[in-house]
Amino acid sequence: MSEDVLIRIENVRKYFSKDSKQVKALDGINLEIPRGSFVGIVGESGCGKSTLGRCVMRLIDVTGGNIYYNGTDITGFGAKQMREYRAKMQMVFQNPFSSFDPKRTIWDSITEVGRFYKMSEQEINQRIQEMITWINLDENVLRRHPNELSGGQLQRLAIARAMLLNPEFIMADEPVSALDVSVQAQILNIFMDIRKDSNLTMMFISHDLTVVRHVCDSVVVMYLGTVVEKGTAEEIFSDPIHPYTRALLSSRPKDDPDKESDRIILSGEIPNAMNVPSGCRFWPRCSRYKQGLCDSHLPEEKCVGGTHYVYCLRTEEMIHARNS
Ligand SMILES: Nc1ncnc2c1ncn2[C@@H]1O[C@H](COP(=O)(O)OP(=O)(O)OP(=O)(O)O)[C@@H](O)[C@H]1O
Ligand SMILES: [Mg+2]
Repeated sequence: MSEDVLIRIENVRKYFSKDSKQVKALDGINLEIPRGSFVGIVGESGCGKSTLGRCVMRLIDVTGGNIYYNGTDITGFGAKQMREYRAKMQMVFQNPFSSFDPKRTIWDSITEVGRFYKMSEQEINQRIQEMITWINLDENVLRRHPNELSGGQLQRLAIARAMLLNPEFIMADEPVSALDVSVQAQILNIFMDIRKDSNLTMMFISHDLTVVRHVCDSVVVMYLGTVVEKGTAEEIFSDPIHPYTRALLSSRPKDDPDKESDRIILSGEIPNAMNVPSGCRFWPRCSRYKQGLCDSHLPEEKCVGGTHYVYCLRTEEMIHARNS
């Protein structure tokens, strides 16, 4: 394993059972997150993004495969063994209102984290002062209760709390999707500052490709519990190869609404993790589906240049079509 990989996800599977049926939320995910990089995890609702984040954070057990943190296999670690890692691995969630205890002041909620990890009162105070300037809020907000603050203010404070212990890694699950668009931009700026000014590693989950494009160095596109394409943001946004990535990108709102849309409409069944198709998971909705190939073979990882990987049985034809 190369030294600067902070998180390595190796053949991770997560199956749930629901109404006595098996839900294949994750089905063989392989991914390396280099230290200091911001990786965006994108894909439609239900493709397994949050499940992947929760597996990495060890909030839930995996069904199979392994998760390595800085070279250590943490897959089977219990609460006690994870304690040391919990300080280094922090989270920011979609709904800032449920991230804070409504009965306590923000100050109490934030300082509790520092005390739990045995920071001195002086260290806590100093760090909170640094954070408060950094997230650009007035100190007064710390004395308030969550219901006295806006979603944007609370999300800034959730980021500050996640940063309090100077973590190495943050898993942010849809951190701006519950906020107004104008507020989203402010929060994204904070994430971009973190990216610029620190060596923090981030797993940034979002269904919104535009958001990911702003914040992340690399992008992983998921479909029904699998990775279909991954690469640098530049590779994915300027040269998408997988038919699903292309469809996702074409469905983004255009900068110019009068411009003719080149939107690719996804046809076929809506994906269902309780009933995953054989072969490539995407074939029932794919315009390039080839009978006897796509529905019976699992796509292997193909490198199409640089760090750009595609999981499609017709990758070579796609590249050929693109180049001709
Ligand atoms: N605890 C659970 N029990 C049963 N099924 C679950 C559980 N958690 C998730 N799932 C199922 O696993 C699949 C992946 O869910 P997940 O929440 O990871 O998707 P997601 O990509 O985060 O979606 P969204 O964009 O809506 O947040 C879905 O089919 C979901 O219904
Ligand atoms: Mg989710």
